[in-house]
Amino acid sequence: MTSVEVGDFLENIAFQKLKRLLHERVGLNCSCYRDDYLKRRLAVRLRATGTNTYSRYVRYLKKNAVEYNLVLNDLTINYTAFFRDRDVYLYLEKNVLPTLFKSTEVRMWSAGCATGEEPYSLAILVHKLLGEKLPTHKVTIFASDLDEDALAKAVKGEYDRKQLRDLEDPLIDKYFSNNGASYRVKDFVRHIVRFEKRDLMKPSLHKSLDLILCRNVMIFFSRESQQHIYMRFYNALREGGYLVTGKSEVLSGEPSKRFLCADVNCRVYQKPPADVNRRVLSGLGVEKADELNLNNPRWRTMDSCTILK
Ligand SMILES: C[S@@+](CC[C@H](N)C(=O)[O-])C[C@H]1O[C@@H](n2cnc3c(N)ncnc32)[C@H](O)[C@@H]1O
Repeated sequence: MTSVEVGDFLENIAFQKLKRLLHERVGLNCSCYRDDYLKRRLAVRLRATGTNTYSRYVRYLKKNAVEYNLVLNDLTINYTAFFRDRDVYLYLEKNVLPTLFKSTEVRMWSAGCATGEEPYSLAILVHKLLGEKLPTHKVTIFASDLDEDALAKAVKGEYDRKQLRDLEDPLIDKYFSNNGASYRVKDFVRHIVRFEKRDLMKPSLHKSLDLILCRNVMIFFSRESQQHIYMRFYNALREGGYLVTGKSEVLSGEPSKRFLCADVNCRVYQKPPADVNRRVLSGLGVEKADELNLNNPRWRTMDSCTILK
């Protein structure tokens, strides 16, 4: 082996070690990414820390715990969009929000909100539903992310025309004020959303939630972390509350046994309502709510919405 080949070989070992370290320490499941993508993003941190090789960077990480957050920020993609996956928002608008807003106090959480498009889309739906009656309800949309730069943009609520490309003009006129090239979410919608920095790896303080959107976030996490976080969401929801995941995300393990599946395609799940045994299980000849989950082959061929009606 030439000295260059030896160098490449050792660097490759250090790269694998780095991936293991990130998995163990911050739960980032690097096997979800292509190596060329990881290398491109890691190159930024190698330059910023002046380490320039994976082996030196691994040593640096072990001595500088704060670097884990910085590298995590660089590796987690912030891509998002208003009304991303339109059918999901349509489902929320038609089936979930009208049910939730039978109550006058509704608490929702957009976990992993990136630059804010997701919680603002939800806030727009809430306003569309309640209109003038909005002030008579106590509505809170918590919106959290661990990326401070993304959160700063979210708090500002300013977007350019390209970021609003999927919105119809009347909706833009109603919910955004235009100033030159920028479009700002109007205050009556912005005020419903409360942004905060929060790491999903840490326990949540939110309780008695009616709806949690956690979409396209878990793809970064190991399966164990995902199950752990979904169980925390389960505990943070009130009975009958909803969880919405990303389209490429599925519940597995314990969470998949606890949640009911309200809509398979839109990835909408429900914590069993208090009366679920009486109302649903007897009708279906099912003994435990656990049996009503997405992984149960009995329901796979069935329109899952009918399960909950
Ligand atoms: C692809 S964006 C998803 C945005 C939005 N939920 C959507 O579906 O359009 C993923 C977001 O998850 C955030 N994220 C990744 N790991 C996180 C963690 N441990 N705690 C909180 N947010 C995290 C990233 O910073 C990023 O903004």
